[in-house]
Formats: sequence, C-alpha cells, structure tokens
Amino acid sequence: MSGTEYQRQGAVAVITLNNPPVNGLGHAVRSGIAEGLDQAQADNNVKAIVIIGGGKNFSGGADIREFNTPKASAEPTLHQVIAGLEECSKPVIAAVAGACMGGGLELALGCHYRVAVSGAQIALPEVKLGILPGAGGTQRLPRLVGVEQALNMIVSGAIVPSEQFKGTALFDEMIDGDLSKGAVVFAGKVVAENRPLKRARDIKIDYPNAEGFFQFARNSVQAVSKNFPAPLKCVDAVAAAVAKPFDEGLRTEREFFDYLVQTPESKALRHAFFAERASAKITDVPDGTPIRGIKKVAMIGAGTMGGGISMNFLNAGVPVTILEMKQEALDKGVATIRKNYENSIKKGKLKPEQLEARMGLLTPTLRYDDLKDADLVIEAVFEEMNVKEGVFKKLDDVAKPGAILATNTSTLDVNRIAAFTQRPQDVVGTHFFSPANVMRLLEVVRGDKTGKDVLATIMKLARTIKKIAVVSGVCDGFIGNRMIEHYSRQATLLVEAGALPGQVDKALEKWGMAMGPFRMSDLAGNDIWWAISKRHAKERPDIISSGIGDRICEMGRFGQKTGSGWYRYEAGKRDAIPDPVVEDVIVKYRKDKGITPRKIGDDEIVQRCIYALVNEGARILEEGIAQRASDIDMVYLSGYGFPLFRGGPMFYADTVGLYSVTHSMKRFAAVNPADAGFWEPAPLLAKLASEGKTFN
Ligand SMILES: NC(=O)c1ccc[n+]([C@@H]2O[C@H](COP(=O)([O-])OP(=O)(O)OC[C@H]3O[C@@H](n4cnc5c(N)ncnc54)[C@H](O)[C@@H]3O)[C@@H](O)[C@H]2O)c1
Repeated sequence: MSGTEYQRQGAVAVITLNNPPVNGLGHAVRSGIAEGLDQAQADNNVKAIVIIGGGKNFSGGADIREFNTPKASAEPTLHQVIAGLEECSKPVIAAVAGACMGGGLELALGCHYRVAVSGAQIALPEVKLGILPGAGGTQRLPRLVGVEQALNMIVSGAIVPSEQFKGTALFDEMIDGDLSKGAVVFAGKVVAENRPLKRARDIKIDYPNAEGFFQFARNSVQAVSKNFPAPLKCVDAVAAAVAKPFDEGLRTEREFFDYLVQTPESKALRHAFFAERASAKITDVPDGTPIRGIKKVAMIGAGTMGGGISMNFLNAGVPVTILEMKQEALDKGVATIRKNYENSIKKGKLKPEQLEARMGLLTPTLRYDDLKDADLVIEAVFEEMNVKEGVFKKLDDVAKPGAILATNTSTLDVNRIAAFTQRPQDVVGTHFFSPANVMRLLEVVRGDKTGKDVLATIMKLARTIKKIAVVSGVCDGFIGNRMIEHYSRQATLLVEAGALPGQVDKALEKWGMAMGPFRMSDLAGNDIWWAISKRHAKERPDIISSGIGDRICEMGRFGQKTGSGWYRYEAGKRDAIPDPVVEDVIVKYRKDKGITPRKIGDDEIVQRCIYALVNEGARILEEGIAQRASDIDMVYLSGYGFPLFRGGPMFYADTVGLYSVTHSMKRFAAVNPADAGFWEPAPLLAKLASEGKTFN
C-alpha cells in the first residue's frame, strides 16, 4: 500500500498516512486507507483502528499535485473513504497532530473517535479557494463543535489550535507526549470499556432561533465578501446542517460545492493559489541549487525604500547595517523606522519589547567599511545612474567575496549596474514596492550574468521575509511598471476623449481595482510618472500620449504630497476631492486640440485600461521577460491592487476569451486611428486568439 503503512500493535491496527510533506489525500493515500480498513475488519485479532499521519502532520487535505488530474476524482473518493470509516464495525480513532485541514479534518470527522496533541492546526480552509468543504465538513463540524464555532471556521477558513476545542466533542482526549502510543492506549480503552461507535452524523443539532441567527450571519458575511460567492454558500450549508436530516444536508453541501467550483471567482482563486507556488520556481534554476547563507544584511540609503526594506529583515530577526552619506539623513531614516514600529504598537500589532529587539538589530553607519561582513547589500539610493555607479564601485571594493549586491532600482538597467563591478554574477535587482514593509510583491530582476545560486538565494530569502517573489528579465519598468504605464496612458487618453478622472477611477474601482489610475498616480507622485513619460516620448515617438498629464504637472500638481494633483487634498487627509481646476484644464486642453468630447461608458473604460495591460503583458511574455503568464498575474495581484476574484490580467483575458479581447482592441483602434498602432494585438496575443488558446 503506497501512500499508507499498515501495522498491528497488539489488538490495534495502525494506518499511517505517508505522503510527505503534508500527507495530502491523493489517490494512493485514499486507497491505502480503504484497503487498511478492509484488512483490519477481516482480521479477528484487530479490535480497533488508529489512523495517524506519518511525520509531523495528520493531513493537509487534498493533494494539490493531483489537482486537475484524473487521480483527484478517482475512486475511492474521499466521500467513499469517509463512509467506509463511519460504517466500520470496529472503532476507528483519528490521532491528530500538526496540520489537520480541509479533507484531512473531514477524514478525522468521519472517525468514531479523535485524539490530538496540543498545537495541532485545525481548519477547513476551502473558502480561500472559493469553494466549501465538500466531504461532509459543513455537516459534521457543527455537530461536534457547535454551530457558531463551526460557522466561523468554515466562513473564514481560519486555523484554530486543537487545545481551543476543549469542552467540545471534537476531541475525546488530548494526548501529552507520544501521540502514536497515546492513541493506541486510548484505542485499548475504547475496546476494554466497550464504548459505542460514535458517529458525528447521529448527533442531533439543537439550535433555537436558527433562522434568525443564519439571517444575521448572511447579512454580516455578505457585507465583507461581496465579490465572492463562497462565504455565503458556507452559511447556507451550515444552515442546512441544522435544518435538514444528515444525508439531505450532505446532498446540499455537494450541490453547493459543484456550483462553487465552476464560478469564475473560485477559478480565479485557485489560479492565484497555483500562480503563487509557480512564481517561486525559476525554470532553469533547479531545486537543490546551492544557496548562499544570508546572516547579515546591509542597506544603502535610509530613505522611503531603504527604511521599509530594512524593516522586512529586522522583522525576520536578520541584523541590518544601514548606511547614509550624512548623519542627518541617517538619523531621519532610523527615526522613521522607529516611528513605524511605534505605530504598530499603538495598533496593538507589536509589543514594546519587540520594538526594542528589532531596533537592537539595526546598526546605523556612515562608513562603507562597516559593510564588509554583509552577506547581502541592497542599494536604495537616488534613481540616477551616476549615483548607482558610485555606490556599486564602492561596494565592489568593500563587500566580501560572495556577498550578493542587489539594487532596488525601478527603471535603470540592472546589466549596466552589474557592469560597474568586477562581479556581475553577484548582482541582482530586488525591486520592492512601496511601502516596502507592507507590500508583498518583490520583483527579482535577473541580469544577463546573475548567478543561479544568487537567484536561488534571493527566492528563498523572499519567503523568509514573507514576500511573493516574481522573476523579471531586464527591461524598462520590469513586469509591473512596464505594463502600468500603458494602463495609465489609456486612462489619460480616455479623459482627453470625454471622461473625467473621477469617472475613470470609479469605473475601475467598481470593477474591482483597489485604486483607480488617477488616485494611484496622485499617491505615487505625478512627477515620477512625468519624468518617465518624457523619456518615453523621446524613445517611442510612435506611441501617442495625452498632454493633459503634462499640463497637470506643469502646474506643480504632483499629487498628495503637494496637496493637489488629479484631485485636491485637504491638509493631513488622503481623500481625493474632485477639483474644478482640473476640469478646467481638461476642457481647455480639448479645446486647444480641437477634440469634441464624447460620452464614454464604464465598460469602455475598463476594457481599454485592462486590455492595455494584457497587450503589454503578452509582449513581456513573448520576450521572455516574464517566465509564465501566471507570474504576470501574481505581479498584479500582489503589487497593483488587481482584484483577486478576477485572477490577474492574463487570467482575466483568458476568462473573457482572447478572441473577444482582440476584437475589442480592433474597435478601439478604429475609434482613435492615431492610437491604432498601440491596439495592434501583440503577436503572441494574436496567435493565441486565432488558435482559440489561452495564456494560462
Ligand atoms: N519610492 C518608491 O515608491 C519606490 C518604489 C520602488 C523602487 N524605488 C527605487 O528605490 C530607490 C530609492 O527610492 P526612495 O523612494 O527610497 O528614495 P528616497 O529619496 O526616499 O531615498 C534615497 C536615500 O538615499 C540616500 N542616498 C543618496 N545617495 C546616496 C549614496 N551615495 N550613499 C548612501 N545614501 C545615499 C539619500 O540620502 C536618501 O535618504 C530608487 O532607486 C527608486 O527608484 C522607489
């Protein structure tokens, strides 16, 4: 029996799940359990059965490696295995440690008894993939832990430590020490005392005023999960556990599961789940590539990014030496880091002693000599090539051999930066997003000569500091900013043609973007956009842009930091207030250019902005700047506020259908012939569309 091991310990048969790392319930494991049960039932010497996880975990649920393969639904299904447990004529005891989640918990719920060690992680996290527990979890858990606790767990997917179930029927005994021995002893007791075969399905739920409670639950859940259908269905499924006989409740659960699994929201969530795992892998950097040890980090520059980046390492317990040119800038940077931690204390997210521990790991310095022990140096100085040149030449002199030299540049050529050193194999781009201590995205920019061990090290380090790392090749703007430029350009062209910034922002926000393009630009600083746009106007004269943005910037309206931009801002506040001055600028601009404004619908706004992302994404993919379409999706989901329920721009385009996407692009080209070149579908997009294929 691969997937499980069967052993007899006296009168107890022990079935050990054996599918590292989390004993996912793949086909071999399910078959192994079913066969183990048969064997135990046929053996007269066996009086009870223990199911336990090999290694640290009971089971993390479905085996994600079998998703989308025939094995996932091959018989015996989890349903059949659980039915077998329930019907078993000998007591079956689940022995729970580590992760006991999803299908793993459902398996345990189907056993007659459950014992656990403290600290086991109990959860039904299916809702996070836009589905619900489909093997009886929504029906059995309320019977064992009560309606309210079960509902909370199923709707949130949250992990609850096993000891918190004290007083419920979930665990019959908590085991101190060796779980396996404790479970066998417990099984012996069950046999000796001739205890009954307890089945969760037989428990009757008595819940007064259930209807009122579930209506309240529906209202609360709907308010916080409006774009996701699964949480509401979770409530309905638990309501069915209360209102219906067990088997009918099971059928309702199955019906909901079958419905949810087909929803675009669930498909998007599952796509994001796999996209995140895929992005950690670099095609030509195999698992097992040697990793360089990173015990000490140095940061050059204590400005906006330098401070935020340092905090990631301090939070992870890695000492950071931070360097500035002048004492004043250094003090200011260190004070900002402290202030950020103090704010976390005020919000109750950090304890005062943690602040001191973290600040204790930070060494401010003005001397490059103090960086010579660093295993990794990250540069976040001004975005000017000559400043970067000075820094990297200096680092080449002082950094120890084998130290990784990283740049946080957002626009400059990482290959040129690497060439300032004698060790380009050690140079890599680490493009953090602002605020760097909060944003999860990290674009890892791979130079032509970046060593594979350097890449492997940075990808591993990204996990340590809880970032989602996506590899990008070297190009202007890397994956994220290169695409966003086209999105913002379309947004401004829409304003030129007849929309207002507020309308464009609202349409995209209603569609799901966390922030519309104009609010985003005001937040990031319109001056940054302006500098890039002026450079690109010279480099790419074929791509048209609206001059409205230039006029806004010529007025010094750089966004929130200057109190005005595409909107106006009241002192100390961040609310974007529509400004008649901006409307005047727009009206005058249109008049100067002889543009008659037309009425523009929200659909056109969304399509033009999002398809601008998609078309550039296709180019990025074709050029090999991104390794895979899902990496582009990950960049947008984790760094640009793209709605999770739409799965990222490339996945969304797949959902719409690439033929439809290119068809709309042709329409936009016809509306504005000057912009027709832009709307020419990227060759990869055109090819996939004509072949009826998808990006992902
Ligand atoms: N701000 C963002 O949103 C953002 C996002 C991603 C990447 N970046 C990139 O990060 C880098 C830093 O940006 P920032 O926003 O933190 O800038 P910033 O102006 O806030 O900070 C730069 C800091 O570097 C210091 N500095 C300048 N030259 C130095 C030198 N030779 N040695 C030591 N220190 C020096 C300055 O005193 C300043 O404190 C830039 O390359 C920028 O393109 C910025």
